[in-house]
Amino acid sequence: MTDTLLIIEDEMLLGSELQRHYRRGGWDVVRANTLRRAEQALVDQDMGPLVVLSDMSLPDGNALDLLEKIRKRSLGGEWVFLTGYGEVPDSVRALRLGAYDFLTKPCEQERLDLVVAGAARSAKAQRRLRDEARERTRRYAIESFAGQSAAARLVRDILGKLADVPFSALVMTGETGTGKGLAARILHHSGVRGNGPLIELNCAALPRELLESELFGHEAGAFTGARGRRRGLMEQANGGTLFLDEIGEMDLDLQSKLLKAIEDRNVRRLGGDQLISVDVQIIAATNQDLKKRVEAGHFRADLYHRLCVFHLHLPPLRERKGDVRDLVPLYVAEYNVKAGKSVKVIPEDVWRMLEAHDWPGNVRELRNVVERCVLFADGPVFPAQWLQLGTGEAKPEITASSMNGDRLILPMDGSMALEDMDRFIIKTALKLHDNNVTATARALGTTRETLRYRIQKYALLKGNEAQPTGSDGQ
Ligand SMILES: Nc1ncnc2c1ncn2[C@@H]1O[C@H](COP(=O)(O)OP(=O)(O)OP(=O)(O)O)[C@@H](O)[C@H]1O
Ligand SMILES: [Mg+2]
Repeated sequence: MTDTLLIIEDEMLLGSELQRHYRRGGWDVVRANTLRRAEQALVDQDMGPLVVLSDMSLPDGNALDLLEKIRKRSLGGEWVFLTGYGEVPDSVRALRLGAYDFLTKPCEQERLDLVVAGAARSAKAQRRLRDEARERTRRYAIESFAGQSAAARLVRDILGKLADVPFSALVMTGETGTGKGLAARILHHSGVRGNGPLIELNCAALPRELLESELFGHEAGAFTGARGRRRGLMEQANGGTLFLDEIGEMDLDLQSKLLKAIEDRNVRRLGGDQLISVDVQIIAATNQDLKKRVEAGHFRADLYHRLCVFHLHLPPLRERKGDVRDLVPLYVAEYNVKAGKSVKVIPEDVWRMLEAHDWPGNVRELRNVVERCVLFADGPVFPAQWLQLGTGEAKPEITASSMNGDRLILPMDGSMALEDMDRFIIKTALKLHDNNVTATARALGTTRETLRYRIQKYALLKGNEAQPTGSDGQ
């Protein structure tokens, strides 16, 4: 697609000279000799020029008035003004309206070319940002939370209501894979802060000190290894949303710092003394029962109440199995496109197996199962043999052939998804270390926090085995 340049110029000779010059340079040039004509092209015909090169005073008015109208309609494109000798450009107003540059006539062609090229680059970057924002808004529309069950409809209904109000905090609960991350993105992108930043932080993935400096930022030399200053995520989320995933894993003393920051609406970087005001909406997610965590003294009651302005619970898939019928076709279509397959027929026995399964990993598990089946499909029929729903366990089990001394052998033939491998590795390592989380974390070269998070995510260490938090003999 060629880029469009709109030239607004009433001097015929200069106008046609510029037109000829930029056509040679590969532009699709449109000319207007009055503001009215220009407005028709911009508004009525929605021409969407990348750059507008405009004289300042035209027979029917001042071009800044037109620029103002265009900006009110939030139409893009960079504007470069050519002002006649002796004209006093209304530079403050032009700056406020976001004009790209001013040049005085007569202007050397070379200089004008440089400015137009710069304006084109800037307009392209803005266009890309706009397109991406539009795509996010589309992808995270309320309807992207799929499912026709009463429970899923209720979730959409609440998401729609919440998206319309400027709520300050919300707690989202639900088992792993029920769509907490998806719902948070929907709330942000469809909400009143959709044009602001969305910053996500997983509280279980970082050790306490690191989590603190991530959240609040730090000044140079605030602690050993703190090179340079860093803006914290609270600051980065200013004007937007901070999504705190796995909030139940946050340390108690960090919880009180977070509460203070939320209540005072400001933060202080580690090692800094300046208070920086922040305006953030907080969405906190957890797959734990926060109330129980409060009762057990692991979660601060005051923070809980501050965050629980709204509470949204996402029910597990087994309680709304009807949604399986709505979700499967979506994922089949998605992976058909991704893998160049054309699965169209889902036999009734496949549906029966899908509906009989309990989905401990919820929608994420369903999605992975569909991915595997579509990837291995040979024709239009959804292959039942790749469902492998049985125990919900990662395959293969530990066998003589999958263990080789202290080494593990994993299939690279596509029969095992990365997440299954991750789960399998952790499960095996835990077995080797008698479910001692500290020893296992050391053996896997990771932190206990990260390991605990995954243990919970994959629902390992259940029942009367060692609990993932605390009682692992550290
Ligand atoms: N109702 C839904 N409609 C469409 N896709 C969904 C729905 N619910 C979940 N998903 C998809 O399932 C996957 C898992 O969802 P998500 O990551 O939001 O779960 P989660 O609750 O945040 O899990 P975890 O606690 O493990 O972080 C994602 O790919 C998400 O897009
Ligand atoms: Mg998540």
